[in-house]
Amino acid sequence: MSMRTMADHLLDIAQNAINAGATSVRLTVEETSRTFRFLVIDNGKGMDPATVERVFDPFYTTREKKIRRFGLGLPFLREAARMTGGDVRLQSEKGKGTEIEVLFRTDHIDCQPVGDLGSVWFSLLSYSPDIRWHILRRYGEEEYEIDSVVFTQMTRSSEDFYAPAFLQLMKESLQELEESIREKG
Ligand SMILES: Nc1ncnc2c1ncn2[C@@H]1O[C@H](COP(=O)(O)OP(=O)(O)O)[C@@H](O)[C@H]1O
Ligand SMILES: [Mg+2]
Repeated sequence: MSMRTMADHLLDIAQNAINAGATSVRLTVEETSRTFRFLVIDNGKGMDPATVERVFDPFYTTREKKIRRFGLGLPFLREAARMTGGDVRLQSEKGKGTEIEVLFRTDHIDCQPVGDLGSVWFSLLSYSPDIRWHILRRYGEEEYEIDSVVFTQMTRSSEDFYAPAFLQLMKESLQELEESIREKG
């Protein structure tokens, strides 16, 4: 089994929402001293019950150009979560959207590291600025929220949105946000 961080898994799930054509995605990431939980709600195309049945089968994918590593996102995620005594819950409705909740028990010896969540926010906001991302991050008693509408209004008015120096600054500020609650939490 791969040594993927929880941030890698979260990015995978958010990527599924992008692939499903979502225009709005809500990410909630809650961490306590013993658990790491995330909830991803998208308004993408959703799935019919027959598809929902199959999504945890390794290599099941509806992506067009099937390459070898397609179809492993959800099975690997569930395997990783269950290895810690956690689990994955998935609910979906065709034409409406999908909701995925994941629990990892971080006090379990097989739990992977959390990874770089600031970089995940950066990848999502910079790659898909037209999607409305709503991120709620809780760490112990601390929390922050990112609403991409506020964020991109601030930043996209700048012609330099895709300039390397601008992207670098954006990445650093998102990582600082994450570091600041980890220090206090
Ligand atoms: N948020 C979602 N909305 C609609 N369909 C989804 C969503 N997440 C997963 N799926 C369906 O489940 C399949 C398997 O997902 P996954 O295991 O992540 O593999 P992959 O993304 O490589 O296809 C996808 O191809 C898609 O059909
Ligand atoms: Mg996937």
